Amino acid sequence: MKFLVTGGAGFIGSNFIRLLLRERKDSEIVNLDKLTYAGNIENLRDVEGDRRYTFVKGDICDREVVEAAADGADLIINFAAESHVDRSINEPGSFIRTDVFGAYTLLETARKYDCGFVQISTDEVYGSISEGSFFENSMLSPSSPYSSSKAAAELLAKSYFTTYGLPVLVTRSSNNFGPFQHPEKLIPLFITNAMENKPLPVYGDGQQVRDWLYVIDNCRAILAVIDRGKSGEVYNIGAGNELTNLQITEMILAGLHKPSSLIKFVKDRPGHDKRYSVEAAKIRQLGWHPEYEFGKALSETIGWYRGNAGWWQRLKSGEFLEYYKRHYHERHGLGDAA
Ligand SMILES: NC(=O)c1ccc[n+]([C@@H]2O[C@H](COP(=O)([O-])OP(=O)(O)OC[C@H]3O[C@@H](n4cnc5c(N)ncnc54)[C@H](O)[C@@H]3O)[C@@H](O)[C@H]2O)c1
Repeated sequence: MKFLVTGGAGFIGSNFIRLLLRERKDSEIVNLDKLTYAGNIENLRDVEGDRRYTFVKGDICDREVVEAAADGADLIINFAAESHVDRSINEPGSFIRTDVFGAYTLLETARKYDCGFVQISTDEVYGSISEGSFFENSMLSPSSPYSSSKAAAELLAKSYFTTYGLPVLVTRSSNNFGPFQHPEKLIPLFITNAMENKPLPVYGDGQQVRDWLYVIDNCRAILAVIDRGKSGEVYNIGAGNELTNLQITEMILAGLHKPSSLIKFVKDRPGHDKRYSVEAAKIRQLGWHPEYEFGKALSETIGWYRGNAGWWQRLKSGEFLEYYKRHYHERHGLGDAA
């Protein structure tokens, strides 16, 4: 089977490609990635020599590039996105372009070649819920330009199923963590800041609840959806590991034997959702269940960042540092703490 994976040089995409190559011997993979600040060719250095794997540097908004990369593909799996909520608040335009127009370009290409399409969406499209959990048919009420652009993309994908009969699947997973996640995201930012004895900037009162999912469990869930999901359907993916941001911060500090004096409460993010929670019964009916125990996965993740300091130190310099200082540190009085 031939896959076009977009955004495969990012966090989840690179873990997914590695899993696919390991578990599906007959797979052929083209990874199309623009290599934005979030994409990193090093994430897949270990599989570069695999003759089943090809990397193409390109933009999912570029129809010509997408059509060339998708030629002969049976399935397009769209991980490519601008994915950081804070950045979407500061610069929404690139989110509309990549997340919405890019999805449209891929869908048109899937239609041209008559191949399947998987849209990797997010639980953030539902918005916040104070009690209970969202089902796949709950109303979408995204709060940020990021989650709104993701909602638009998946609605567009579903419309291609309804209107053109294109085989479309959508996954909505909760917050992922694990190896190769860019250090701008909460868990790697806090692990790496703690390792450097720098402040851990916790938004507001730190009582925002997220349901944490180990990235390999998410990748396995995506495979289950590809193998056994029903065309036109949406699948929530969550492991039921609900924790407040403050709890996760304390666990990271404990895992690294660092003091809680590193916690620094900062002004809350505008439009910050209080709690995300998805009901994952539908994906469990496909035979999927999370395999990783949360505490163990978190300590393995901490171990990975400890063992790969060169990887994240490079990412915490250059563009990231400039961005971070401009939009974050100066606003929150964190000095030079990136
Ligand atoms: N990380 C999470 O917790 C999470 C949770 C639910 C859903 N998701 C979704 O999963 C997908 C992957 O997330 P991630 O955390 O791996 O993101 P990421 O930011 O680590 O990776 C995104 C990748 O997309 C590439 N990209 C960006 N714009 C592109 C463009 N125009 N053309 C081609 N490539 C482009 C980047 O170079 C990068 O490699 C995203 O669609 C995201 O919305 C992520």
